[in-house]
Amino acid sequence: MQWGLQNRLSRIIRPADGRTVMLAVDHGYFLGPTSKLEVPRETIAPLVPYADALMLTRGVLRTSVDPGAGVPVVLRVSGGTSIVGPSLADEGLTTSMEDALRLNVAAVTLSIFVGTDHERQTLLSLSKLVDEGERYGMPVLAVTAVGKELEKRDARFLALCCRIAAELGAHFVKTYYCDGFEKVVEACPVPVVIAGGPRLETFRDTLQLVHDALERGASGVDMGRNIWQDGHPVAAIQAVRAIVHEGHSVDEAFALYTKLAK
Ligand code: R5P
Repeated sequence: MQWGLQNRLSRIIRPADGRTVMLAVDHGYFLGPTSKLEVPRETIAPLVPYADALMLTRGVLRTSVDPGAGVPVVLRVSGGTSIVGPSLADEGLTTSMEDALRLNVAAVTLSIFVGTDHERQTLLSLSKLVDEGERYGMPVLAVTAVGKELEKRDARFLALCCRIAAELGAHFVKTYYCDGFEKVVEACPVPVVIAGGPRLETFRDTLQLVHDALERGASGVDMGRNIWQDGHPVAAIQAVRAIVHEGHSVDEAFALYTKLAK
């Protein structure tokens, strides 16, 4: 891997432990003012000190993140759809590599919609982005999106998606945790991080998810709603960090969360 690309990637996935806590705040790109992310700056600012990277669009980056914050950015460069439109899968590239470089981001990211009418266009967008990324030293994160079809989140399907993303050149992949997750990771030759998905019943469930994913080979998390929709988001992200970077058990991390949430 070329130096610039490796340097950027090492700002996201920490070389010390090969792990990362990315904070996903890109939801508005198709959901609009998502609950608890209505005013992005207010949600993001208190969490920045605990995030290894932020995943977001250029609009929220420019308007809602202090350029001096020093946090690495994973810039979402796909979109063009909305939750009220005909198909979430019908995405294209929304942001040029030139703008990503101007914004000095650490990586770019797009969604791929395998198994939909739009798989070809989203996979070719991935290939195009990888070609540009290789040219400019910019890592590409592929997100294996499922749109509204959350039931698609099983090991066979996600392994297919992750492997295709890696084959097309993605430098790391974001997917969902599932039963048999180790098979997804085994078959994917680049690092895999997990999304949190819709909010789980309890925060302990979130910690269990993070713990199980790491145990089965994930390189970390790229989570949103289960952190910032929690009643105590700053405590929540610190507890997630404790599992990812400090090897806490679920019980230890939950005790930390309870203490910090007081
Ligand atoms: C969805 O496509 C967005 O890219 C989110 O970044 C992703 O789903 C992770 O956020 P959450 O943990 O809320 O699922």
